[in-house]
Formats: sequence, C-alpha cells, structure tokens
Amino acid sequence: MAACLFMLTWALVAGAELRFASYYADHMVLQKGPAGAVLWGYGEPGANVTAMIYKWDNVVMKKMVQGEVSRIWKVVLSAMPQGGPYSIVVRQVYKDDVSNITLRDVYFGDVWLCSGQSNMQMTVSQIFNASKELAQASNFPYVRVFAASLALSEEELLDLPDIDLQWSVPTAENLGHGDFSYFSAVCWLFGRYLYETLQYPIGLVAASWGGTPVEAWSSQRALRKCGLSEDNKSFPASYLDSGPVKYSVLWNAMIHPLLNMTLRGVVWYQGEKNTLMNTDLYNCTFPALIADWRESFHEGSVGQTEQNFPFGFVQLSTYLRVGVDDSFPRIRWHQTADYGYVPNKKMPNTFMAVALDLCDASSPYGSIHPRDKQSVAYRLHLGALAVAYGKHNLTFQGPFPEQVQVDVALKVLNVTYSQSIQLHHMDSKIFEVCCSDPALCKWNAIPIRTASLHTVTLHNLACPDTVTGLRYAWTEWPCEYKQCPLYNMQSLPAPPFISFSHNNPGWVVS
Ligand SMILES: *[C@@H]1O[C@H](CO)[C@@H](O)[C@H](O)[C@H]1NC(C)=O
Ligand SMILES: *[C@@H]1O[C@H](CO)[C@@H](O)[C@H](O)[C@H]1NC(C)=O
Ligand SMILES: *[C@@H]1O[C@H](CO)[C@@H](O)[C@H](O)[C@H]1NC(C)=O
Ligand SMILES: *[C@@H]1O[C@H](CO)[C@@H](O)[C@H](O)[C@H]1NC(C)=O
Ligand SMILES: *[C@@H]1O[C@H](CO)[C@@H](O)[C@H](O)[C@H]1NC(C)=O
Ligand SMILES: *[C@@H]1O[C@H](CO)[C@@H](O)[C@H](O)[C@H]1NC(C)=O
Ligand SMILES: *[C@@H]1O[C@H](CO)[C@@H](O)[C@H](O)[C@H]1NC(C)=O
Ligand SMILES: *[C@@H]1O[C@H](CO)[C@@H](O)[C@H](O)[C@H]1NC(C)=O
Repeated sequence: MAACLFMLTWALVAGAELRFASYYADHMVLQKGPAGAVLWGYGEPGANVTAMIYKWDNVVMKKMVQGEVSRIWKVVLSAMPQGGPYSIVVRQVYKDDVSNITLRDVYFGDVWLCSGQSNMQMTVSQIFNASKELAQASNFPYVRVFAASLALSEEELLDLPDIDLQWSVPTAENLGHGDFSYFSAVCWLFGRYLYETLQYPIGLVAASWGGTPVEAWSSQRALRKCGLSEDNKSFPASYLDSGPVKYSVLWNAMIHPLLNMTLRGVVWYQGEKNTLMNTDLYNCTFPALIADWRESFHEGSVGQTEQNFPFGFVQLSTYLRVGVDDSFPRIRWHQTADYGYVPNKKMPNTFMAVALDLCDASSPYGSIHPRDKQSVAYRLHLGALAVAYGKHNLTFQGPFPEQVQVDVALKVLNVTYSQSIQLHHMDSKIFEVCCSDPALCKWNAIPIRTASLHTVTLHNLACPDTVTGLRYAWTEWPCEYKQCPLYNMQSLPAPPFISFSHNNPGWVVS
C-alpha cells in the first residue's frame, strides 16, 4: 500500500519524461567544428525541445526541434570551436509542462572511438611503467574518458545497455581500474599524445571486448559483402571460452548505439581471434567493417561524422605459442587488404601502427598481451597526425620495398626500399625466398649481406634456377624487442611483406 502511494506521488511530481541518452553526461567532450555535435535523448512525443549552450551565464547557441513524433529527440548543435567549459541545457515544453536537464563541464574537441579485443582492453595499470603513467593522469584534465560495458545483443540496440565508466576527468583510479576493464591503455595514450600535439580537448570512447572476432563487430550488411550470412553465423563451440564470437552481437550492443554521436575517427586493435577463424576472409571482412562503420556513423549522425572518417589500427604484435602456423603473419598482411601498407586503394584514409617488434615474452598476461603500449600508441598517433590532421610530411610507417632485383647467376638479390633504411643487424633468417611455383613454395632463409641507404643486398641464394617469391618477417615472432633488422631513420620498423615475381612489376629477374 505504502509503495503504491509512493509511486503515484512520484508519477505526479515527475511530469513529462526528459533525459539524455546514456552516453551524454557531465565532463564529456563533444565533437568540435566544422562538424556539429549531435545530442539526443528521450522526451514526450510531440514536445518542443530546445538545446542551449551556456558559457558562464551567456547563451552562446540555441537550437530548437519542434514536436517530434517519437519519444526520441535529437538536436544537431551548430559547429563549435574547441574549448570550454560549457553547460548545455535542454528544455522541453510539452503543453503546460516545462522541464530542463543540464550537462555541466562540457568541452568541445575531437572525439575518438577505440575498439577491438583484449590488447585494446588492457588497462593503463597493466602496462610497463604503469605507476608513472597513472601518476601523470591528472596532468591531462582535458583528455576525457568514457568506457562502455561489455554487452551483446541479437538485435541492433538504440542505446548502450550499460556503462563501465561514465564520462570522467582522468585519475589514477579510473585509468587503472582493473585488468582488462578500464581504461584502455592504447586508447588513453593515443588520446594523450594527440592532446600534447594539438593542445585542445580530446574525448575518448572505449568499447572493446577480449577474444572477439571481427565478425562480432560487423553488421549483417558488412558480413554479406564477404559472403557471410545468418546461415554461417556461429563458430565451433570450442571457441566459446573467450569473448562472444557470434556474428554482429557486439556491433548490435556496443557500436550501433554510438552511431548517433559525432566522431572524429576510430582506432582499432583486433585480429588475434581471427588467426583462429575465417583467417583468409580478413582481407575482406576488415575493409568491409571500415566501410560499413563509416557509412553508418555518417548516417547515424545525420551527416555530421565525416563520410570517410580516419580509421587507424594496430597491426598484430607477437605471440609465442607451440604448434605455430602462419596465421599471425597472414592476418598482419590481410589487415592491410594484402597491400602491406596503408592507406591504399582498398583502405583509403586509414593509418597503421606496426607492432611486430614490440614482443614481450614475460608478460604476466601472456605473451599475446605485450606491455609496451606506449610505443603502440605513439606510432598510432603519428599515423593520426599524418592522415587525420594533415601533417602529410610526417612519416608514420617504416620502409616498404619498391623493387626486387635478382641476379640468379651471382646469387644476389637486392631489395630497394621507399625510404632510407637503418640496418640494425645482419639477420640471416628474416628474409625468405621461394624458388618454385608460388602455389607450392618451400621457403628458404636468405641472409642479409650488405645494405646501403635504400637497398638491402641478400646473398647466398638458396634457389638454383630462379626466384619466384620473397617475404620478410613472416613469423609470429620475427625479432626480439625493438631488434628487427630494418627500421627507418625515425626508428619505425619495416612492416612485413610477401611478394611474388609473376604478378609484380617491381620485380626484375636476370
Ligand atoms: C511547440 O511550439 C510551437 C511554436 O512555438 C507551438 O505552436 C506549439 O504549441 C508547441 N508545442 C507544444 C507541445 O508545446
Ligand atoms: C531549469 O529548471 C530550473 C528548475 O526547474 C530553473 O530554475 C531553471 O531556470 C531552468 N533553466 C532553464 C535554462 O530553463
Ligand atoms: C556462408 O553461407 C552462404 C549461404 O549459405 C554461403 O553461400 C557461403 O559460401 C558461406 N560462407 C562461408 C565463408 O562459409
Ligand atoms: C584474401 O586472401 C586469400 C588468401 O590469400 C585470397 O585467396 C583471397 O583472394 C583474398 N581476398 C581478397 C578480397 O583479396
Ligand atoms: C541512430 O542511428 C541509427 C543508424 O542510422 C538509426 O537507426 C537510429 O534510429 C538513430 N537513433 C537516433 C536516436 O537517432
Ligand atoms: C619506462 O620508463 C623508462 C624510464 O623513464 C623509459 O626509459 C622506458 O622507455 C619506459 N618504457 C616504456 C615502454 O615507455
Ligand atoms: C614539410 O617539411 C619541410 C621540411 O621539414 C618543411 O619545410 C615544410 O614546411 C613541411 N610542409 C608541411 C606542409 O608541413
Ligand atoms: C645489388 O646492389 C649492389 C650494391 O648496391 C650492386 O653492386 C649490384 O649490382 C646490385 N645487383 C643487382 C642484381 O641489382
């Protein structure tokens, strides 16, 4: 009886419904101009809703939407310059009922979404120099963090089911909450390095889940492009011990709800799980995910998130395991749509952090979880500066081969690179040649003999008659920590590659 009375009273007092969607909260960063930030929430159908941005007591912007028929209201704010703090008041007028809700301490800056599997989830407390990184958190009050909870769904959801970390000013506690929870070290460091260069607010939205394949993060629309459909929705049960593997379930619950917010770009660290499943579809499924996320975020933000927004990713690092096959190098290659570098024709406006030299055999979280996330995030932020922030001059990738010259008689093979190279040591195993039909290759190691500014000379060719293929760093663990043989002058590692003479004009065989 008492409970009923209470509920009745509450209903009378509460009046018309008015609230923000789950991921709009005090301390947040909204996307700055030239895009307009999208704000949405729940209200009374038919009500008039006005959003006002206040700086101190002055209204600096006012936007009204009139009488929307559903219980969802949505306002596209005018493009705002970077900075803050602002308060945003949303007022609803519904017949005689006037109510308002407020976001406080809001900044405008660049909003980046960070997604992927456990290497993206790994928190700041799990990495090298964790205590130093955590102690510095409070020096970056204009980098704001938000983490979605793990959630999966069979249906596309409108809003996030739950939130692990609501928008916050960074502290040692919320950056180091616990293993593989929040806050993502790669995401945090990426945002922090961007802030150090750009000197304006950065908002970081983390939504990742360990042990999950690309298919779980892909919409049905994206999967169909690669010949995957409802019919082959599930993977074998043995994979169910890790994160969810079912098609689209994370897209549905952790990405679809975010489509309506305006973003600057996405960074992604995923692929390990696909070394175990649909490995040779990854050159289709990953580019398809990127294209689909771009289209969907653009559409969901009513055109405010750029159609072709920058998408950065980490190329797989290393893993020590028994019974190795070449699925790790294959995924690394497929991560670039088989080009070896990005951006390329199939992956425009993307950037990549090469991480194959950042191994960590004694990681307490297993060798698949290397602890040097500083170098990963640093290389990733170089890519963002070059691709997303117009510093076209800036080199964010190591040297990639442009030409392979073979002198079969002299048993010499010259590999000429796009950039000046630094030869770390005379490795004898990391280059391998194929002497036969590419479909039947038996790969043979070929040692480095000398190097000049752009060219590595390999000698003692194992092939008696001709050379048909060459590959570099084609193993799970190609070198020790920061000890791969080839770097550029900025100490960025040469990415792995595989190349065949029959379909490559860069080859000269004599
Ligand atoms: C919304 O605003 C319009 C114009 O000011 C007004 O005519 C209308 O009655 C308002 N609707 C509600 C539900 O208050
Ligand atoms: C919001 O509502 C509060 C109390 O209901 C009122 O004092 C305040 O003036 C309102 N603000 C705006 C901007 O309408
Ligand atoms: C998935 O199922 C579709 C429809 O049955 C089929 O055409 C396609 O070959 C399957 N793809 C894979 C990768 O198994
Ligand atoms: C992806 O790689 C596989 C294996 O190398 C190859 O057969 C396939 O044609 C490639 N697909 C695309 C879309 O490039
Ligand atoms: C968010 O965007 C998606 C995709 O365009 C759309 O289906 C959904 O209705 C949008 N939600 C809101 C609240 O506008
Ligand atoms: C950890 O800190 C030491 C001392 O400042 C530094 O030399 C080292 O590079 C740091 N490690 C990483 C991974 O950032
Ligand atoms: C590119 O680099 C050169 C030399 O460092 C510099 O002079 C030039 O201003 C840079 N250009 C751009 C567009 O940043
Ligand atoms: C390879 O490079 C070396 C040293 O730069 C040069 O002497 C040699 O002629 C080159 N050989 C071929 C086949 O290009």
